[in-house]
Amino acid sequence: MNVRVFTSESEAAAACATLVSNAVREKPSLVLGLPTGRTPLNVYRELVALHQRGQLDFSRVTSFNLDEFLGLPPDDPGSFRAYMERHLFQHVNLSAERIHFLDGSAERAEQECARYDAQLAAAGGMDLLLLGIGPNGHVAFNEPDESLQALSHRARLSRETRQAVASFFGDDVSKVPLAALTLGMSALLQARRVILLAFGVGKAAAVTAMARGPITPRWPASFLQLHGNVEVWVDAEAGRGLDGSR
Ligand code: GLP
Repeated sequence: MNVRVFTSESEAAAACATLVSNAVREKPSLVLGLPTGRTPLNVYRELVALHQRGQLDFSRVTSFNLDEFLGLPPDDPGSFRAYMERHLFQHVNLSAERIHFLDGSAERAEQECARYDAQLAAAGGMDLLLLGIGPNGHVAFNEPDESLQALSHRARLSRETRQAVASFFGDDVSKVPLAALTLGMSALLQARRVILLAFGVGKAAAVTAMARGPITPRWPASFLQLHGNVEVWVDAEAGRGLDGSR
């Protein structure tokens, strides 16, 4: 696994936005996998700035978000769709028909997941996937378990994960949905290029286990060790468990 250690999160965010901008310039019809959470906020801010300076045209880009809370309609302020509208979609020229999202308010979760997998397959999979990592080693909402699921699916959120995302629900864990819809491991591992971003001492254990630990469903991010084109971008704090020699 290629690990890049940045002097700061903001330096990494600017570099990530430049990487996306270069990728879109090389392939204007890029298919982009997008995460949510606190980590990508600075990247989205940098992407918006590049777009506003006329240096990044999203008009032919296709986006797929990784996951969505179950039971929240897209216009619920707590939904990941609303998060993406606030932090990226409202500020750039992605076309509405090329923005793809799991619908957390879908009546039948299984059918919605199958629809999403088909949509991603029709788009040819992701060219570039930006990922975060949960403190318990989850990627998207693929949570630690006895086994993992290849395809998009309904995921029960662990207590740890619900606590980790509570900040988006006014720090009230009771308001965090109990489940989500998420891309499965196959979609993530089939992305042609992956940049995983993790910053701060709180992510050091998750990053070390991902990069140096056993490949196990108890740490879903560890399966990225099998991906041939993944880079792990960290600051010194998140990367402190990596000796950088492998
Ligand atoms: C949520 C999201 C993940 C994200 C994780 C870490 O679980 N489903 O996609 O990577 O949170 O978020 P943060 O960047 O806020 O630590």
